Amino acid sequence: MDLLQSVDLAQLPKHIAIIMDGNGRWAKEKGQDRVYGHHEGVISVREIVNTCAEIGISYLTLYAFSTENWKRPQAEVNALMELLVNTIRREVEELRKNNVRLHVIGDFKSLPEICQKELNEAKELTAANTGLNLILALSYSSTWEINEAARNMVADALAGKLKPEDIKGDKFHEYLNTSAFPDPELMIRTSGEHRISNFLLYQLAYAELYFTNVHWPEFRKQNLYEALLNYQQRERRFGKTSEQIQTNNPQHV
Ligand code: IPE
Ligand code: IPE
Ligand code: MG
Repeated sequence: MDLLQSVDLAQLPKHIAIIMDGNGRWAKEKGQDRVYGHHEGVISVREIVNTCAEIGISYLTLYAFSTENWKRPQAEVNALMELLVNTIRREVEELRKNNVRLHVIGDFKSLPEICQKELNEAKELTAANTGLNLILALSYSSTWEINEAARNMVADALAGKLKPEDIKGDKFHEYLNTSAFPDPELMIRTSGEHRISNFLLYQLAYAELYFTNVHWPEFRKQNLYEALLNYQQRERRFGKTSEQIQTNNPQHV
């Protein structure tokens, strides 16, 4: 049975964030090179992006390359950057057709120029799209993002545009690289690791975390539906009591 039939399409998270992990181990298990896993992982990316667009998710953030990933062997880093360029080039038309708008978060300037160029073109080509917002986290880490935010806040303070007493509520959020997007309600990590690896530390404050042992190249739409079903069985309390939540949302009683 298609699990989608059990998913309540009226109660979907607006924003899903995914740590796409396990490409290397998946390839090794098959007696292949790690890079083979990254290539196969692209097929999962395509399927998950198309599925999110189809079912009406508004934002999907994919952790594709972390600041720390620069420390991997040079050959793997090169292969990942080449894969990024080729994938964007090949998929941009499909994104356009599916009304997907591309965004990038992370230390953009640290990416090779050819990647920057390809990403800028794809962002422009999809800028008018109004469906799914696909946010690629590239050369991203929360350490980098929070340092940037703090640096810009200090600069604004020195320029007289920000006072200590202004820093409350959502103020800090305005300085984050993700300021234009709502925080994710659901964070998925594949391949059995139970950690955040410097991903959206601030923004995941109230996200529901979902971990699966499935490696990313095998994570397909049925796996996404499983995660959504699991998410929909949870009660999100935001500090309140269960009774308060149920009184305010009688449909959940
Ligand atoms: C995720 O898979 C892809 C990237 C981090 C670029 P990994 O390459 O981390 O795969 P494992 O975790 O080593 O299996
Ligand atoms: C996190 O995966 C980064 C991405 C998925 C892009 P890693 O595989 O690099 O994370 P660690 O090093 O195992 O924590
Ligand atoms: Mg990994």
